[in-house]
Amino acid sequence: MEMKIAIDGPAGAGKSTLSRVLARDLGFVYIDTGAMYRALTLRAQQRGINLHDDPALCALANSINIHFESRAGIQGVFCDGEDITDAIRSPEVNSEVSIVASHPQVREIMVKKQQNMAQTSNVIMDGRDIGEQVLPDAEFKFFLTAGLQERAQRRAMEMESQGYYIDKNVIEEDMQKRDRMDSEREVGALKILVDSIVIDTSERTADEVLAHILSIIGEG
Ligand code: DC
Repeated sequence: MEMKIAIDGPAGAGKSTLSRVLARDLGFVYIDTGAMYRALTLRAQQRGINLHDDPALCALANSINIHFESRAGIQGVFCDGEDITDAIRSPEVNSEVSIVASHPQVREIMVKKQQNMAQTSNVIMDGRDIGEQVLPDAEFKFFLTAGLQERAQRRAMEMESQGYYIDKNVIEEDMQKRDRMDSEREVGALKILVDSIVIDTSERTADEVLAHILSIIGEG
């Protein structure tokens, strides 16, 4: 029987760093669902699709194939065979991905893709609606969080490492806007569940968070 671990939380809470290391340590597959919404956004932008055009976005979501490949500790993201790992982290994708992710029918298609990916392996999956919609039967549901300033600082550093220098206040405002859209949408909203294990990562290093989670799942 495969084991599923769900990790939800707002942007910059440390989900992807943690999920990557956790997957490596446990030998699980890591599925970054945010990257899947980003891939769809990138393709829609490249094809000039109106991001409010629900049927066009659904058709696009149904037609593309997204897969992950991990190499030397880096999680590569591919769309129809093309490496889009860096392209999906651009400021243009950042600012419009929440619009794409707010369409209920688009989400339905993405959730099915995510569930199919999780069917045959032990997985760590991170996102916003994983514990509630995608893997409701997950053995562990973690909700990672951190203060807004801390999250914006982390995102700024991450963007810098990719060559984008953006004012921290702009990142903070953008994050706040996205958090609001992600938490207030009708379907697949970010929320703490009754069975969520909430971890505030503000005052903890990535290693401390990892050790804490490993001890909870009995591998520490
Ligand atoms: O985690 P991230 O920043 O890569 O996510 C990108 C966007 O996709 C973000 O606005 C939230 C949205 N998202 C979502 O709605 N549902 C998910 N399961 C994952 C991400």
